[in-house]
Amino acid sequence: MFLPIFFFILSILIPHSSASNDFCIADLSLPIGPAGYPCKDPKSVTVDDFISSSLTVPSGNTTNLYNASFKDIDTEQFPGLNGMGISMLRADLDMGGLTPLHTHRVSELLLGIEGSVLVGFIDSNNTAYYKTINKGEVIIIPPTLLHFFYNVESTRAVTYSFYPSDDHGLQGVDSSLFRGNLPSEMIDKITLLGHAQIQQLKKLLGGTN
Ligand SMILES: *[C@@H]1O[C@H](CO)[C@@H](O)[C@H](O)[C@H]1NC(C)=O
Ligand SMILES: *[C@@H]1O[C@H](CO)[C@@H](O)[C@H](O)[C@H]1NC(C)=O
Ligand SMILES: *[C@@H]1O[C@H](CO)[C@@H](O)[C@H](O)[C@H]1NC(C)=O
Repeated sequence: MFLPIFFFILSILIPHSSASNDFCIADLSLPIGPAGYPCKDPKSVTVDDFISSSLTVPSGNTTNLYNASFKDIDTEQFPGLNGMGISMLRADLDMGGLTPLHTHRVSELLLGIEGSVLVGFIDSNNTAYYKTINKGEVIIIPPTLLHFFYNVESTRAVTYSFYPSDDHGLQGVDSSLFRGNLPSEMIDKITLLGHAQIQQLKKLLGGTN
């Protein structure tokens, strides 16, 4: 008696299995909404929509302040990731290359691909955890904690990072202070840096005010 009713209700609640419920390849030609991009017509989806070759090449030009380049692999670069709750980043660090202190909303699983990098994070009790990560090793960085990594060899280092989110929401400490529009006199009040140093860093990073 109860069983047929149960299955009847279940069949109403659970959508019928069809390709359109299994995935939603982003249609980047349409505007993004709170739930991500609208889906590409399932009839035109092929296996290539689930594959990206973006990580097979270096992430970019490392002739910059950080001797490093970064490439995000998210829905914009890889429409198959739409709504999957995961994204990636490739970092290429030349000699002296670094990823400055930053934070994001979600955890980060960092995998050494080439060379050696020193990875560190600082917990809310100001305890620092840091270690050199070599090729094939992984480190898990807890969500929201400030962290960094830099190349410890004279050869190139490459790392891949994985984030359990479509959008990891990165925020850099030096970018926030010196690349944006926070007025210098306010930075002067809230940090122990002197005015001249603040001006110098704003100039270096392109901040205004
Ligand atoms: C890399 O960037 C530097 C500085 O912007 C530039 O001078 C150089 O030509 C670039 N190299 C390549 C290969 O694009
Ligand atoms: C950054 O790269 C340049 C060019 O390869 C190199 O001369 C410089 O020493 C590097 N910076 C550091 C801090 O190693
Ligand atoms: C917090 O850090 C202090 C030293 O700064 C240490 O004595 C204390 O044990 C730490 N507490 C925890 C919970 O790790």
